[in-house]
Amino acid sequence: MVIVTLNIDGKEVKAKEGMTILEAAKQAGIEIPTLCYDEKLEPYGACRICSVEIEKRGKTQIVASCCYPVEDGLKVKTTSDKIIKIRKIILELLLPLSPTGPILSLAQKYGVEKSRFPSQRTDCILCGLCTRYCAEVKGEKAVTFIGRGADKKIALVPEKAGVCATCRECYNLCPSGKIIDETAV
Ligand code: SF4
Ligand code: FES
Repeated sequence: MVIVTLNIDGKEVKAKEGMTILEAAKQAGIEIPTLCYDEKLEPYGACRICSVEIEKRGKTQIVASCCYPVEDGLKVKTTSDKIIKIRKIILELLLPLSPTGPILSLAQKYGVEKSRFPSQRTDCILCGLCTRYCAEVKGEKAVTFIGRGADKKIALVPEKAGVCATCRECYNLCPSGKIIDETAV
């Protein structure tokens, strides 16, 4: 097993090669917010709320910590001014879609009281947790995305209705409650 040493927020952190920055930070007790991540699922990189600033070979870059693998000598800042600004903008974009639950909690934490963007409540932030959980963990595709761009939304597959009726394990993952409403219909 190869162990790499990186620096997260000034703290020397040792991590197994292949881990992500998010996993290494979590192991070191450093909290990074997430919305589309779940440890049981493959990284997806959709919400970008887990963005961090990395420095390697003198160059800085913003990356999604849930997808980016640790590297020896990497310097990571999880709460730089730039990162806070990015998270605030992301929350401003998400709040009109889903102004409750974890998104509202994060908005309050980051001092985002209102959004400059128009209200377009869908109660779904397209995080893909439900669709990926269904496919990757349950081996089913009972919930899926349909449409593209602004019309993209989740949909239940009619032929698989019986699967949802007895499963509902994705309920606890959904950051907006949308999947509960969908399956209740
Ligand atoms: S229904 Fe919930 S879990 Fe599924 S994509 Fe939308 S926000 Fe994510
Ligand atoms: S938690 Fe990393 S991109 Fe969503």
